[in-house]
Amino acid sequence: MLDIKSIRKDFPILQREVNGKPLIYFDNAATSQTPQQVIDVIVDYYTNYNANIHRGVHSLSQEATDAYEQARIKIQTHFNAKHAYEIIYTAGTTHSINLVANGFSSLLKKGDEILVSALEHHSNIVPWQMMCERTGATLKVIPMNLNGELIVSEFNSLLNENTKLVFVNHISNALGTINPIEHIIKEAHKVGAAVLVDGAQSCPHLKPDVQALDVDFYVCSAHKICGPTGIGMLYGKEEWLKKLPPYQGGGEMIAEVSFENTTYADLPHKFEAGTPNICGGIAFGAAVDYMNSIGFKDIAAYENELLKYATEQLNQIEDLKIYGTATNKTSVISFNVGTIHPYDIGTILDKMGIAVRTGHHCAQPIMDFYKIPGTIRASFMFYNTKEEIDSFIASLKKAIMMLS
Ligand code: ALA
Repeated sequence: MLDIKSIRKDFPILQREVNGKPLIYFDNAATSQTPQQVIDVIVDYYTNYNANIHRGVHSLSQEATDAYEQARIKIQTHFNAKHAYEIIYTAGTTHSINLVANGFSSLLKKGDEILVSALEHHSNIVPWQMMCERTGATLKVIPMNLNGELIVSEFNSLLNENTKLVFVNHISNALGTINPIEHIIKEAHKVGAAVLVDGAQSCPHLKPDVQALDVDFYVCSAHKICGPTGIGMLYGKEEWLKKLPPYQGGGEMIAEVSFENTTYADLPHKFEAGTPNICGGIAFGAAVDYMNSIGFKDIAAYENELLKYATEQLNQIEDLKIYGTATNKTSVISFNVGTIHPYDIGTILDKMGIAVRTGHHCAQPIMDFYKIPGTIRASFMFYNTKEEIDSFIASLKKAIMMLS
């Protein structure tokens, strides 16, 4: 059982007021909040050992390098990657996906097929469309049903010997659906296709084991798991990372440079050109430590309770429709009320101190599927409470009355 009262004390921001009301933060799928333990690591870095890494002989540079590389090992251990050099630091999920999509531009050709799920965020659609334009490969879509679940039989029949790559999110940011990635990975591998899983929305709620999954690429952002923005990771199997060309050229990603010829550094540095987000990497490691100190089993159990509690209450509101009713889903609820525009409800909730996201959630194809412009999305983390859900429901009812 989680001690929510004491956990909430870790998050200074949860003590503040917004528009004169205690903050109720239900926009966790957009970004999570940062505990004092991670804030302290950031302050310590800039206070005591800010220096560039991998290049200075001086003590500060050594300290910064050690902390940055130790954080990589923490991340490796968390995801159970075989090697630390299979963890590439990136600026976040979007950067990670672009890195892989760019690499596949040199591996694919006309006639090759790649499969994307209908449940993707734009960041797992657009880089692949750009890659298809460059290579002539064809993008095919795994369809979804009205509950917001992928239609697995359709996925099975889309697979063929031309399928080279499948990319799918572990959890949908717009609907909360948990996708059957174990099945997808197993079946894709039978036809020799690689699989990239976008873990941006899964990492806050569960602990993926990349070796057990046998996934080829797994990507996520630190800011979704109580870390800072601007840092994330790409896990790639060694064999794939060796096959992909570098994404960006610059310092630290080279072995030798001359005007005639340049050779590249070994993994992971081949993909880490330029001065990285050093403090971000170290804080990413601290965020992983923090999440593990809470414990993912307890996190999942508690967030499921919140999801069930909120869903039951929302379902009692007249004219309210929840989008995304998958059997297997996480603590994200997207909904609309009658013909009221989501933005109007979001604005009134904000006046009452409640933060939710409104709009298409960077997942326009999902909104098109349901023929709606957007939704109101409430997304919960382990530091939220049932009391907050009660206040949210009461405020939502007031907003509906004002707008009806
Ligand atoms: N991808 C983030 C969200 O779903 C920003 O809100």
